[in-house]
Parts: sequence; C-alpha cells; structure tokens
Amino acid sequence: MNTNHYISRRRFLATTGALAGTALLSTPVALNAKTSSKKEPTANGKKLRLAIVGTGGRGTGMWGHDILRDYSEYVEFVGLCDSNAGRVETGKRIIGTSCPTFTDFEKMMQEAKPDVLIVTTIDGTHHQFIIRGMELGADIITEKPMTTDEKKAQLILDAEKRTGKKCRITFNYRYSPHRAKIWELLHAGEIGELTSVDFHWYLDTSHGADYFRRWHRLVENSGSLWVHKASHHFDLLNWWIDSDPESVYALGELNFYGKNGKIRGENCRTCPQASQCKFFFDITKNKRMMELYVANEKYDGYLRDGCVFKNDINIFDKMAASIKYANGVQVSYSLTAYSPYEGYRIAFNGTNGRIDAWIQESKPVADVNYDEIVLFKNFSRREYIHIPFGTSGHGGGDKLLKDQIFLPGIDDPLKQCASIRDGALSCLVGIAARNSIASGQVVKIADLTTLKPEAKKKYERIL
Ligand SMILES: NC(=O)c1ccc[n+]([C@@H]2O[C@H](COP(=O)([O-])OP(=O)(O)OC[C@H]3O[C@@H](n4cnc5c(N)ncnc54)[C@H](O)[C@@H]3O)[C@@H](O)[C@H]2O)c1
Repeated sequence: MNTNHYISRRRFLATTGALAGTALLSTPVALNAKTSSKKEPTANGKKLRLAIVGTGGRGTGMWGHDILRDYSEYVEFVGLCDSNAGRVETGKRIIGTSCPTFTDFEKMMQEAKPDVLIVTTIDGTHHQFIIRGMELGADIITEKPMTTDEKKAQLILDAEKRTGKKCRITFNYRYSPHRAKIWELLHAGEIGELTSVDFHWYLDTSHGADYFRRWHRLVENSGSLWVHKASHHFDLLNWWIDSDPESVYALGELNFYGKNGKIRGENCRTCPQASQCKFFFDITKNKRMMELYVANEKYDGYLRDGCVFKNDINIFDKMAASIKYANGVQVSYSLTAYSPYEGYRIAFNGTNGRIDAWIQESKPVADVNYDEIVLFKNFSRREYIHIPFGTSGHGGGDKLLKDQIFLPGIDDPLKQCASIRDGALSCLVGIAARNSIASGQVVKIADLTTLKPEAKKKYERIL
C-alpha cells in the first residue's frame, strides 16, 4: 500500500492557542476575576499572600520552589504546614522561603492569614483543608483529585455556597499543547458532531509501580487509581466532550501488584529479597527523596520505598469503564498500571470523521521530537498534525497552568480553568466506577451529590 496516497499535508505547530495565551503584561496580579475569562490587574499592587499545606514532593517543587523562582514579583509565601514536623522544615529549605512553618493548620491560618491556600496533602485529606481554608477566609488552589468520595465532595460543594470563596482545581493535563490542540480541533467541528471516544491509558512498571509503593496503595488515602489518577483523564474527557458525565458502568481487579506477588518485604531498603526483585527501588540514590522522606521517617513512619507486593494493597491495577454523557456521547475507558511503556491512545469518532492520537510519555522514540495527532475526514485524506514536545513538567502543562494563575492579563480562550464543579465531576466518575464495581450496577452521577449533569458543560473563570 502506498501510504503517501493517504497523506494530504503535514502541519508542524510551533504554538497552540494555549501557548499563544501566555502573553505577559507588566501589571500586578489579581486572583478574583470571576466573570471575565481574563484576569484583570489589581489596583493596590500588593503581592498575593500564599500558604501551602502539604510540603511533600508536589508542594515543595511545582507549588513551592518553582513559584518563588518564577512569580516572586507577584506572590509571597506567608506560611507552610505539614503534619510531619521534619518535612515542613525540609520543605522550607527546598522552597527557599523564610516564612513561618506549622504542624497545626488552624494556627497557620489564624496567624499567617493567607489570601490563597495551596492544598498539596494526600488526596483523602484535601476536603478538610479546602473547607476549613474557605471558612477561614482564603481562596483555594488544590491539587487533583479534589477529593476521594461523594460525601466529601458534597461537603466541599456546600462550603463553597456557604462561604462564597472559590477553589481552583489544578488540572495541568488540560494545558499540555497536544491536548489543547485536540480541544481546538473538536471545538472547530473538524470531525462534525462528536459521538464517541475510545480512551486507553497505560502506566508503566516504573511510574505505575510507584503508586503501589506509596500512600496511594490504600483506597482510604487516594480513592484508588480510579480517583487519584483517572480523575485527570475524566477531567480531560469532560473538557473535550464539553458535557457532564451522566452514568458509569465499570469493572476492575488487582491482578499484578499486592497479594499477587511471589515475594515481598516491608520496604526496599530493608528487603532480604531485594536482589531477586525486578521492582527493587534504591531510594538512597535520590538525594531529594532521602531529604524529604527518609530523613523524616522518624516523625510518622511513612516509607517512600514501600514494597509493591504488600498484602494490604487494596486498589485495582486493571480497570475499565463505559461512561455515558448528558449530550449523548459515549466513552470506552481503560487504565492498566503494569505496562512496559507509559502513555495513552485516544480516538474521537464524529459524524464527519475521526481524530486519533497517541502519546508515549516514557521511553519515547529516539529520533522524534513531536507528538502526533491524525485527523481523518470521511471520504477524504488524512492530515498529520505534529506538536513539539513540551518543555516543562507534564508536557508543558505545569508552567502554562501557573502562568495563567499567577501572571496578570492572561486570557482563557480554551476554557482550561477548572472550578469546584469540574473537580467534583471528574472525581465522581471514578467514585461512580468504584461503586459500580461494588454493586455490579450502572451508577448515575446525579445520585451521588446535589450536582445535576448538564448537556453543555458550565464554565467559570476563577483565580
Ligand atoms: N497534578 C499532578 O500532575 C500531580 C502530580 C503529583 C502529585 N499531585 C497531587 O499532589 C498531592 C501531593 O502529592 P505528593 O506527590 O506531593 O505526595 P507527598 O507524599 O510527597 O506529599 C504529601 C504531603 O502531605 C503531608 N500530609 C499528609 N496528611 C497531612 C495532613 N493531614 N496535614 C498536613 N499534611 C499532611 C505529608 O506529610 C506529605 O508531606 C496529591 O494530592 C497528588 O495527587 C498532582
């Protein structure tokens, strides 16, 4: 077959709409433009007072050190809090701030009085800090997932109404240029009316295995990968499809890690089986992890290099779901956590064509420096669209997300800003999947909280 026959033209995109939206203005920042999609400058020109709860990897890096490095003209840290007394001091050093540290959250909020609280604790605790932070007068920036079960989601929805405060969910995946381009193609009607999506995500035996080493291995901490990991994917689906999820039917099992292992120990450093284990992880080679976690084990006993075959692991490593949207779109989704490579395959089927996209996040092909999207139009030739690899964390998304939050004058043409409603609806798909596996029944999203799915997704620009 002569494949050239099917190639009409190639495009190599230097920028997308998302990248183009990062023009800088020299005015001070404001984080409360609630009606416009553009953040307006403030009149008083004061720096935004930030506090962080949860000074682990994400809190000290993406939301700590990197914020001071890139946005100190606009923001300052006024407090850091962590339940681990050692880690909060290590975190302060890594971030490079002189602000006070706390192990008592209430005390930090009373004394530091932040404008914005950044929540980067473990997932199962996010709701406590989002709710109490809003009650104590702060707007919130929280890491995904917003929360881990439907009761906590309802408490957050109620607190937003009661306090009038806002919470932004940091869905950095929306900001990767590859995914932003897919959004643009769908919204430009390139494949006609969207009817269905096939979405399959693969975590590899390095990154995927890491979830089974850490606190994530317990449903009570992470909500399982259905919530901790897949809420990223469900948020992308909600955003691309531009509608709310309505019902979910799911399957899932633990087939590989945990009780399935033939050998096991407590953690890699102390394991007598280390020499014969393919999952041996030598944390002593990672200076940052030794400082953050190993040096502070004495405070809470948390082992960052836990065994992936521990018997207490109670999350699934193989998952599949059928999701129906309020606008009629249907989705086939799967997540596998023990794949030889990491990435995803996705296809969007429409009345006039189809979009196929594939990302290999680890071990990418050596001589290629772009990700590809293939646009097929019915009765026509295919078109290849190439997106250059991103330059910061998570496909370039982390930096674009922070620019939009912390720099003034940044518009939101692709509606990438995510509200509590978005945070809830992404978690609720994973929570519905968990409940569906437990009951064997289809679970309706409307039965989980007071949120009612809408055919057209609601958008709100906050923070
Ligand atoms: N968006 C992304 O791509 C991305 C990437 C990594 C992590 N995250 C999210 O960031 C959050 C933190 O993840 P991490 O990898 O930094 O984990 P981590 O284990 O490195 O850090 C979590 C920190 O929270 C602290 N903590 C736990 N319970 C607490 C409590 N009750 N009060 C105060 N502190 C408490 C721990 O001591 C620890 O220092 C998670 O919600 C995770 O989902 C998001």
